[in-house]
Amino acid sequence: MDSIEIVEGKKARIRFDASKCIHSRGCVLSRPDVFVPNVQGEWIHPDAATPEAVAELAHQCPSGAIMYDRLDGGPNEQPPKVNLVRIRENGPLAFHAELHIAGQEPSYRATLCRCGASKNKPYCDGGHAAAGFVASSEVAVEESSPLARREGPLHISPTVNGPLHVEGSVEIVTSTGKTVNRTTTTYLCRCGQSRNKPYCDGSHKAAEFVAEGV
Ligand code: SF4
Ligand code: FES
Repeated sequence: MDSIEIVEGKKARIRFDASKCIHSRGCVLSRPDVFVPNVQGEWIHPDAATPEAVAELAHQCPSGAIMYDRLDGGPNEQPPKVNLVRIRENGPLAFHAELHIAGQEPSYRATLCRCGASKNKPYCDGGHAAAGFVASSEVAVEESSPLARREGPLHISPTVNGPLHVEGSVEIVTSTGKTVNRTTTTYLCRCGQSRNKPYCDGSHKAAEFVAEGV
């Protein structure tokens, strides 16, 4: 993909997918020597950090825009032990799992649009800010039982003009870390209109939401 920038260091290769970045700025704030903000030319410097630190920087990137390959024989990214979708305040849904999104190559982290405004659906492109999207992360707790299996593949299929169909074990948490649901199949709103966020309540029809699906 054109949007992916690849910079090879001696011990780690960083891949940066600008189309997925939600500009949370975690990278430039925690390691401005590795991700140098506001410079002309090369701004990614894998050799400024140990490969372990490069890996940790990537793991902290919610959108999956930062990926890495260890060139020192160290371990590459592994799927988490607990699949999560974190509801971000006034922002996207941040997934952490072995993700299979719309039949694309598996990935481990992704922020998906839940306001309807992204021009890069199903991914968030930061458009919620300009759209003035307001949606609390602190939603009601649903009664749910512990999952028999907390990890494993998570399949996410954006439906045509409708919600995200999520299949696989996942725990839904708020931005303060509270678990509000545990499920193996659910439909999550991505039009921004549901009165029962983060779940779809069918409001996308009245809203005449238009989005490609699979
Ligand atoms: S989404 Fe990732 S790459 Fe983009 S600013 Fe945040 S930490 Fe950096
Ligand atoms: S996708 Fe938003 S209510 Fe269905």
